[in-house]
Amino acid sequence: MSHEDFAVRRTATVEERVDAVQAALADRGYEVEQGVAELSRLATEEWTSANGARIVARAWSDPAYRRRLLANGRAAIEELGYAMPKHHRHLVVLEDSSKVKNVICCTQCSCTAFTLIGLPPDWYKDLDYRARVVRESRTVLREMGLELADDVEIRVWDTTADTRYMVLPEQPAHTIGWPEEKLAAIVTRDAMIGVARL
Ligand SMILES: [Fe+2]
Repeated sequence: MSHEDFAVRRTATVEERVDAVQAALADRGYEVEQGVAELSRLATEEWTSANGARIVARAWSDPAYRRRLLANGRAAIEELGYAMPKHHRHLVVLEDSSKVKNVICCTQCSCTAFTLIGLPPDWYKDLDYRARVVRESRTVLREMGLELADDVEIRVWDTTADTRYMVLPEQPAHTIGWPEEKLAAIVTRDAMIGVARL
């Protein structure tokens, strides 16, 4: 291969790749525009962290529900009318305590329980986060504004295609006894990923 061959070759732009994928789908009879519009609607209106926040609020308020959620996440979220795609076969809910901080990541790509906590933020997909949160979790958490005492154990959980995680944050003491709706309002996406405490 000559130098000229290298010179004319380049990687397709994102737009060109999107066009190519859409053309291939259209060739196979898919309604591409409609599909894209529906996915964006789901991502912005249905798959939001408000879902996970309601689940957390229920777990804080109802000890029996909390036990069911920790024992079988998928079954427990279905009780509240939530769903996960079929290929998210397991939902493992990780309980934080004063001595244990759980953090989730996807070292391979960007998997999350997105129907419950929303699509992953950009930093979650960043190569740096994915590599460093595993090797130097305490430092990464500190950089993200979460300073943990030395005696707090950090557990990092690597998501896979069929096992999704959600952190059950510790309930702040001053919120004990609040109604569920008010509790849900304080639960954030970052707390359910595990990089923040409430
Ligand atoms: Fe992934």
